[in-house]
Amino acid sequence: MADLRLDTLPGVGPVTRKKLNDSGIHNIMDLVVRGPVEISDITGMDFDSVVNLVNKARYQLIEEGKLEKDFVNATEIYKRRQDLGRITTDTDCLDHLLDGGVETQAITEVYGEFSSGKTQFCHTMCVTVQKPKEDGGLDGGVLYIDTENTFRPERIVTIAKMKGLDPEKVLDRIIVARAYNSSHQQLILEEAGPIIEENKIKLIVVDSAVGLFRAEYLGRGTLSVRQQRLNKFMHLLVRTAEAYNIAAIATNQVMSAPDVFFGDPTRPIGGNVVAHTSTYRIYFKKSGKKRIARMVDSPHHPEQEVIFTLTEVGVSDPEEDSKTKVDKLLSKKTEKKPTAQVRGPAKQGPENA
Ligand SMILES: Nc1ncnc2c1ncn2[C@@H]1O[C@H](COP(=O)(O)OP(=O)(O)OP(=O)(O)O)[C@@H](O)[C@H]1O
Ligand SMILES: [Mg+2]
Repeated sequence: MADLRLDTLPGVGPVTRKKLNDSGIHNIMDLVVRGPVEISDITGMDFDSVVNLVNKARYQLIEEGKLEKDFVNATEIYKRRQDLGRITTDTDCLDHLLDGGVETQAITEVYGEFSSGKTQFCHTMCVTVQKPKEDGGLDGGVLYIDTENTFRPERIVTIAKMKGLDPEKVLDRIIVARAYNSSHQQLILEEAGPIIEENKIKLIVVDSAVGLFRAEYLGRGTLSVRQQRLNKFMHLLVRTAEAYNIAAIATNQVMSAPDVFFGDPTRPIGGNVVAHTSTYRIYFKKSGKKRIARMVDSPHHPEQEVIFTLTEVGVSDPEEDSKTKVDKLLSKKTEKKPTAQVRGPAKQGPENA
């Protein structure tokens, strides 16, 4: 494993290290993730020397293969994207929607109304990420930032048991941080670096990412401050996911947009800030006992929907008799030829007669 201690950087003596430590910068990766503007702001250090320090940190991480070079050609990016980690949802329908599962180095945002299954999805992923790679997991731990006090270890135990994993081991690999206010939520993520390294974290869950910001900044007057702080949080989340090659799931609530006359008036909270930092956005919608998941915004997935259910085992495929929309579509495509062949002889019948 790469040595991430701050003292391994040339020019960092005990004084600088202490200054950085006191401001929550614990290792070289933290330097890169937080960036010079913020670091010079919180430590009071001279901006130019911080830029210098962050650059040295970046070079060192590039040399150790922990970060990408600044200039790479598209073939290299393509090759590297093939190696991206994916965490299975353990359902055919949602894996299909996500093209194999929840991706590392990205934020997957899940938004939807109450009881639409966002928290159940997060709990399921806390278990599946721990599966071995050959079973679709990443054999990694979880950092669960719980802002609504809805993390339930009992659910983890049930889901783990039903998936054939040892519940005690699964619980051990989930680090839960309960955030009490939006500043605390930010602080937890700022302090997460060493925890991610020590516990081989492969998934960060933030349930919910916007709830506390929404509750604390009420009214139009505070909107721009709220958006600024939320922006800071979401950017730190995406930088953390990229730097440590881990997946991030952020849940989001919805509001009703009064200006929408046609179609679904439900909109995710957080406006452009959340929209622009989330790599993938999935909308969960209730439909009786079933749930619909729609890929709303993605750089490379088509906009499509699948049907899933919520059961003891977390998110699940719908029962066999009610196939998912995608399965139906797929089977229609593949069945095209056989049906034509079946029709063939039937058509011949009257002609022959
Ligand atoms: N053990 C279980 N077995 C089957 N279904 C369950 C179980 N636990 C929860 N559910 C289902 O999950 C739903 C709650 O989903 P969840 O808590 O994930 O919603 P949410 O989208 O997080 O809502 P909110 O916005 O209120 O946080 C319940 O209405 C129920 O249908
Ligand atoms: Mg919830």
